[in-house]
Amino acid sequence: MLCWRETLAVSSFEKSQTTFSMSRVLNGIVAVCPNLGIGKDGNLPWHPIRLSNEFAHFRKMTATPSIAGRKNVVVMGRKTWFSIPEKNRPLKGRINIVLSREYKVPPAGAHYLASDFSSALTLVDTELAEQADQVWVIGGSSLYKELMESPGTRRLFVTQVLQQFDCDTFLPEIVPEKYQLLPEFPGVPKELQEENGIQYRFEVYENI
Ligand SMILES: NC(=O)c1ccc[n+]([C@@H]2O[C@H](COP(=O)([O-])OP(=O)(O)OC[C@H]3O[C@@H](n4cnc5c(N)ncnc54)[C@H](OP(=O)(O)O)[C@@H]3O)[C@@H](O)[C@H]2O)c1
Repeated sequence: MLCWRETLAVSSFEKSQTTFSMSRVLNGIVAVCPNLGIGKDGNLPWHPIRLSNEFAHFRKMTATPSIAGRKNVVVMGRKTWFSIPEKNRPLKGRINIVLSREYKVPPAGAHYLASDFSSALTLVDTELAEQADQVWVIGGSSLYKELMESPGTRRLFVTQVLQQFDCDTFLPEIVPEKYQLLPEFPGVPKELQEENGIQYRFEVYENI
């Protein structure tokens, strides 16, 4: 059992971790249909069509650290982890944190397990503080929601797919009162993209 002095130490430690997480820019990245659909049957809505250049954009954004010698962190829900083909797990060159309330150990191949979003951020700011650079939330629905509603600077890298597909998983609405579309962002092409007859556009939003 903790004595009051230890309790105090723990609570001020937790408070400082919350402050660190708030001061860190957190990024989300998602590809979305016009009706905000992001998934279908545990896969992407456009499966089996592949958007290879769109995937290359995801890889470039999430895997490129801004500080040499460090690695970016990808944070994802358990279903998103299993939606990644086994041969591509963990996402290479990145620290993979999987969230689950049920799992007691990370799923095979994942680097870390966290039982909630704030524990994942605390992990980044403590155990991973010396090696972690950018944090990227890569899905699914509830994690995007937590990211979008959390305090601090939040950026959303959104691929607007301009064609509708059947979806069963959705992105929460990007509320214009809270998020503004940036006119441009380094490394993000502005031109309309097209692959396999599907048009899409890269956008970056930041909270106001
Ligand atoms: N279009 C895109 O860019 C994109 C990106 C990502 C995913 N997707 C698609 O979206 C679908 C998967 O997303 P999803 O929303 O269904 O599921 P998900 O968020 O990836 O996974 C849900 C599970 O993650 C765990 N989890 C989520 N939030 C948590 C939290 N705050 N704390 C602790 N654990 C948490 C829980 O696992 P337990 O049940 O184990 O407790 C929960 O059941 C797939 O179809 C995938 O292809 C699309």
